[in-house]
Amino acid sequence: MKKTALLLVLWSLLCLSHAQMTDTEADGDEEVVDLFTTPHTKLAAATSDFGYNLFRQLAARDPKVSVFLSPMSISAAFTQLSMGVSERAEKQIYRALRYHTLQDSQLHNTLKELLSSLRAPAKGFNSAERILLARKLRLKLEYLNNVETQYGVRPQTLMGGARDLKAVNDWFKQKTGGKVGQILPSALPRNTAVLPVGAAYFKGKWVTRFSKANKMDNFQVDGQAPVLIPMMEQENYPVKMGNDPDIGCTIAQVPMQDGVSMYFFLPDEVTQNLTMIEEALTAEFVQDLSNTLHAVQVHLTLPVIKVSYSTDLLPSLSDLGLSEWLAETDLIKITSQPVKLNAVRHKVVMETAPEGTEYASTTTTARGQSLTLAYNVDRPFLFLVRDEPSGALLMIGKVLSPRDLERV
Ligand SMILES: *[C@@H]1O[C@H](CO)[C@@H](O)[C@H](O)[C@H]1NC(C)=O
Repeated sequence: MKKTALLLVLWSLLCLSHAQMTDTEADGDEEVVDLFTTPHTKLAAATSDFGYNLFRQLAARDPKVSVFLSPMSISAAFTQLSMGVSERAEKQIYRALRYHTLQDSQLHNTLKELLSSLRAPAKGFNSAERILLARKLRLKLEYLNNVETQYGVRPQTLMGGARDLKAVNDWFKQKTGGKVGQILPSALPRNTAVLPVGAAYFKGKWVTRFSKANKMDNFQVDGQAPVLIPMMEQENYPVKMGNDPDIGCTIAQVPMQDGVSMYFFLPDEVTQNLTMIEEALTAEFVQDLSNTLHAVQVHLTLPVIKVSYSTDLLPSLSDLGLSEWLAETDLIKITSQPVKLNAVRHKVVMETAPEGTEYASTTTTARGQSLTLAYNVDRPFLFLVRDEPSGALLMIGKVLSPRDLERV
């Protein structure tokens, strides 16, 4: 009895007060970037919002499947493409990418610097982007040169034979340190004209290591028998945590090295319907969260993730306000010929491992915490990987089924 009461007190402490959470919420989305003050953080916020929108579109297309995305990578690929369109089309693309609020005359330089800081090896994140273009389009050299000068990557000219596949796959594999192979699973269709491609890899290191790796534990899915999956586990694990009754979930922010964090959004009930959480996600919401979560020590249990996921984002991007442009694709700075986008290829490879540089304390030291709180990611959940200094969203995903945790 006494134990339950104490736990409730503790729980209410963790409850994020609604007033606190909504204080700084902007009325219109135009204000979102006001929170962020430097060109880099503004761009990171815009790209995160683009990522959340894209994630929602992708999730809405098939609510029953797991989804993994790297918004930074997709945004970077599309920004390269935007250098080849008319001013009018650029406006449409910038709106979809959420760049339209930035008023950054140095946008491309800002993006280049941001990407380079995010790809620092200590963060465990890497990405590569390239536009593939058929040679028969009679490509305009100025575009190829401009992209190469700006981003250090020349769009790849496709000759139209079987050799293209190997050339593309080799390039992406090499750029991601061997981590993202076979970005194109099979030979390109004959009519391939324009294909933006983005690949991302993430394997961050926790700050605090997990002493138990690969412990088999139950993962529960609504209406199905639990499935045993490998979990990592640690007592007295320092996290930031809070319960948000408005979206019915408990959130834990687990620190990783070099300023990266992984956020878990765990529904209070076992459900595959994460709509409430998905709808709440904006750059500002997550920034507020990071300021309102409470530092606690918990008995932390996380699933081991080892995922390789690839998808064509063209339909989802079309839903994000690009349908008009896509219907009459203008790429006038790339080619004078009529042309269509064939697909937008995206591949994400991600792993979590128990390693970390620090050890959890052996005694619970947090003041006022006399009972052990447990945070056990043992049912469908949503996660974010965020770079805290810039606010950039490196990865976003939701796992609806235990078999999607280990899919290579
Ligand atoms: C999922 O949850 C949302 C919000 O609670 C609800 O509106 C929607 O109908 C649910 N979807 C399904 C398929 O149950």
